[in-house]
This record gives sequence, C-alpha cells and structure tokens, in this order.
Amino acid sequence: MRGFLTALCLASCSLHVAAFLGFPWGSAESDWNLCASVDGRPCDCPDDVFEADRAGLDCSYRDIGYLHDGAVVPLRFKKVDLSNNRLRNFTATTFSSNNSHVTELDMAANLLSVIPPNAFVNLPGLLKLDLSNNEIQIITNDSFNGIANLSSLDLSHNKLHVFEANTFMLLPRLQRLQLKYNPVNFLPDSLFTGLFNLTHLDLTHLQLVALHNELFTDTTSLEELSLAFNELGSVPTKALFKLSPSLKVLDLSGNLFTELTSYSIYNMKRLHELYLRQLIYLKAIDDYAINECNNLRNLELQLLPRISFISSRLSYTRLETLPEGLLNWTLVKSLELSHNQWRCDCHMAWIKGSPVEKLVGENFYCSLPNRLRGSPLSQLKEEDFVCKASDDYPDPKQWGVVAVLLLVGVLASITTVAFLFYRRNGFLCRKTDNYSQLKAASRETITVVDSSAVSNTDAELNVA
Ligand SMILES: *[C@@H]1O[C@H](CO)[C@@H](O)[C@H](O)[C@H]1NC(C)=O
Ligand SMILES: *[C@@H]1O[C@H](CO)[C@@H](O)[C@H](O)[C@H]1NC(C)=O
Ligand SMILES: *[C@@H]1O[C@H](CO)[C@@H](O)[C@H](O)[C@H]1NC(C)=O
Ligand SMILES: *[C@@H]1O[C@H](CO)[C@@H](O)[C@H](O)[C@H]1NC(C)=O
Ligand SMILES: *[C@@H]1O[C@H](CO)[C@@H](O)[C@H](O)[C@H]1NC(C)=O
Ligand SMILES: *[C@@H]1O[C@H](CO)[C@@H](O)[C@H](O)[C@H]1NC(C)=O
Repeated sequence: MRGFLTALCLASCSLHVAAFLGFPWGSAESDWNLCASVDGRPCDCPDDVFEADRAGLDCSYRDIGYLHDGAVVPLRFKKVDLSNNRLRNFTATTFSSNNSHVTELDMAANLLSVIPPNAFVNLPGLLKLDLSNNEIQIITNDSFNGIANLSSLDLSHNKLHVFEANTFMLLPRLQRLQLKYNPVNFLPDSLFTGLFNLTHLDLTHLQLVALHNELFTDTTSLEELSLAFNELGSVPTKALFKLSPSLKVLDLSGNLFTELTSYSIYNMKRLHELYLRQLIYLKAIDDYAINECNNLRNLELQLLPRISFISSRLSYTRLETLPEGLLNWTLVKSLELSHNQWRCDCHMAWIKGSPVEKLVGENFYCSLPNRLRGSPLSQLKEEDFVCKASDDYPDPKQWGVVAVLLLVGVLASITTVAFLFYRRNGFLCRKTDNYSQLKAASRETITVVDSSAVSNTDAELNVA
C-alpha cells in the first residue's frame, strides 16, 4: 500500500514539477533536491515537492530531516514553506546564490538551534521570515546579514536566553518583530538600534523584570507594543516615554505591578488602546496614572482581584462601560456612579440584578445608545441592554441628516464650549495645563468601601 502511494505521489508530483518548469521529466528538479537520507531511511521529499496554488512552494509536513546544499527555487515561486519538518541546521549554503526572487521563507516548527552568520545571504529578496517554534538559542549580530529588505521576522516560541547587542541592526526596514515566548529576562539597550521602521513589536511572555530606558530610542515608528505577561514590577515609564509620538496600542497585562502611580503612562498622544488585564497584584491606580493620553478610546481594566482604589482623574475620557470583572462587586458597600456617559448595551447588561444595581440606586442614567438616553437604570429591563448595529450605524437614508446634524452639533458645541470656557476662565488658549482643564469638568466622588481590606480603609473610586 505504502509503495503504491509513494509511486502515485511520485508520478503526480513529478508531473507538477515537470509541468511548471516546462521541461521534460528529469531535467531541472535536481535544483530542488533538498533532502538527503536521514538515519539510513530514504527521504521521499523530492517527489513530494509540489506546487501549492497561491501559497508558493509547499514542503511543509514532509518529515524532512536535512537539506542538501545549493537548493534553487524555481523562478515562479516567491514563497517557500519548509515548516513542520525536522530540520536542525540552515546555513549560508543551504540555498544557492540565485534565489533573489524568494520573498518569503517559512521555517517554523523545526529543530533549528543556531542561526549562523550570513544564514540567509543567498535569499536577499526576503521580506518575511518565520523562524518561530524552533529551539533557537543562538543568534549573532550578523545572522541576518544580507536581507536588508526584510519587513517581518518571527522568532517567537524559541529558547533565546540572551540577545546580543545590535542583533537586528542589519534589518533597517523591519516593520514587525515577534519575540514572544522566549526565556529572556534582559534586553540590551541597543537591541532595537536602527529599527526606525518598526511598527509592531511583540514582547509577550518573556521574563523581563525591567526595561532599559533607552531601549526604544530608535523605534520611533512603533505603533503596537505588547509587554504582557512579563515580570515587570513597575510600568517602564521612561522607556515608554520614547514612544509617545507614535504608540497607538499598548498591552501591559499580566505583570507584577502593585500600583499604577501618577504619570505611569504619560503623554501618549496617539494611544488608542491600553490593556491592563490580569494584574493580580495591583492594588491602586492613582490620580493621573494615565495622563495626557487624549486619544485613549479603549482602556481595559479586567481581572484586577486586589484593586481597592481607582482614581477617576486618570485621563480626560469619561467612563462609558463599567467592566463586570473590575472589582468583586459583592464586596463593595457603597458606590456612586453619576455624571458619566454610560452606554447601556449588552456589555453592561450584567448590572441588572447585580449588587451594583442596589448600590447606585436612582443615580444611574444611560447616555448611550440614543434610544435609551436619559433612562434611569431602575426603569430598564435586562432585555433593554442589547448591542444593536443600528445604534452605531444609522440607516443609509439617515446619513445625510446625520451628517448635517453632526456638523451643526460640532459647531454648536465648539462655540458653546469656547464661550463657557472663556466665561469661566477668562481665556481661551493656554499651554496645556492638565489640572486646570480637569477641574473645569464636573466631577463626582465615588466611595467604594472594600470590606475585604484589612484595615477597614475606605477605597475611593472617583469617576469624572
Ligand atoms: C547539520 O546537522 C547534522 C546533524 O543533524 C550535522 O552532522 C552537520 O554537521 C550539520 N551541518 C552543518 C553545516 O552545521
Ligand atoms: C544558478 O547560478 C549558477 C551560477 O551561479 C548557474 O550555474 C546556474 O545555472 C543557476 N541556476 C539557475 C536555475 O538559474
Ligand atoms: C530592496 O528593496 C528596494 C526597494 O524596494 C529594491 O530596489 C531592491 O532591489 C531590494 N533589494 C533586494 C535585494 O531585493
Ligand atoms: C558583532 O559582534 C562582534 C563580536 O561579538 C563584534 O566584534 C562586532 O563589533 C559586532 N558588530 C556590531 C555591528 O555590533
Ligand atoms: C524607514 O526608515 C527610513 C529612515 O531610516 C525612513 O526614511 C523611511 O521613511 C522609513 N519608512 C517607513 C515606511 O517608515
Ligand atoms: C467575591 O467575594 C465574595 C465574598 O467574599 C466571595 O464569596 C466571592 O467568591 C468573590 N467572588 C469572586 C469572583 O472572587
């Protein structure tokens, strides 16, 4: 049976190979003779090399243990997939020098442990390189020599304990770098030197205890950074400060912070999303912990089992949603949540029938969606808390009206705000002074008594 299958595969694959090369069987596929026999066991790879329609040359899951030197990829293939084999080494001579048309190499899920100097020098056109799920322990500062156009590199799920300085310096066009799940606890300050084009950096699940202040000096284009599930004892404010002009998404979940002190996350002008989940030691979020982050749209506080103090003077944003997992609400004895813009949709449905409903009494009104504007919590049923696409996206017919109303609304609010501000403060423009602007907003103090707190201290939840 096995013999029959092999023969069948051999016949069909050689047809493929012969067909795409335009040669009669037997002439050119020796260029793609990647395999050698391993442990005396014949390797059936050359016959199995086949064309995967759009994906490129697919040699994944072939049980390949060793690659012959000097492979040449037929010109029509830009992507080579060697993932999920048993490859242990890859050197500068694995591919021959005429492979500059290859733009993507997938070596994921093999057994590589060393990336030697100049390993990819014969693949100078590479844009994307996947080395994830190997056993890589050693990368040197010239491992990536010769592939200066590379834009995406994945080194996640390896065994990197140490990074040499300047490891990535030869990759000036790198945009995405994945280093997650490596057992490294220290990153040299010059690790990301020269990565001016880096936009996405994933440092999740390393064992970092601190970051060097200069680590992000060159990564001035970085938009998304994950530092989740490290062992950071405090927010690396100084390192992050270098990213203030560019960073849009930051994940600090799963670290060892006990407190987010004032100005922990400061002056991130473009920050849209901030994730603070599973901070199991976090006890307090202080005043202005998240400050001058005027574009913050999504602040996720989840699974913070020890939190007993959250200041509202976090940022300019008003709360729209109260996360169910924020506090153990059964422990909260009193709570006032007025003067926020609650969005009464499916994400807030939990509040009906929860301890919070009793605590907030009549002082909880919905601001959003429009159909519930002004409704007190006490008059709503759980069924009213639904997420409807139409709440956010009006009918196409209404678009014209909406656009006009929006414009009028925006103009009216700008004028009103300007007028009120002028009346109140006697000036319109001044250099940003965070505190005075915040004081100008109405604020309510909310007292949360956390009965689990040992010393019976009143925890305060101030929500502007
Ligand atoms: C590649 O690996 C084999 C064993 O897996 C080893 O014998 C050989 O020397 C290695 N070649 C290079 C160039 O490292
Ligand atoms: C690759 O280059 C070598 C010389 O560098 C040449 O002899 C060989 O024919 C080339 N192969 C292909 C497929 O272009
Ligand atoms: C690198 O990219 C540039 C610009 O896109 C291009 O001109 C150059 O040929 C590329 N280099 C290689 C080796 O492909
Ligand atoms: C790369 O490392 C070697 C030895 O570790 C060192 O001599 C060389 O200066 C380094 N190059 C760069 C660019 O850091
Ligand atoms: C990449 O970085 C260079 C400077 O090293 C810069 O001139 C270029 O605009 C950057 N490209 C992108 C896409 O950011
Ligand atoms: C919240 O506290 C109550 C009372 O101590 C406890 O029974 C309950 O398990 C806690 N809930 C969670 C999710 O920790």
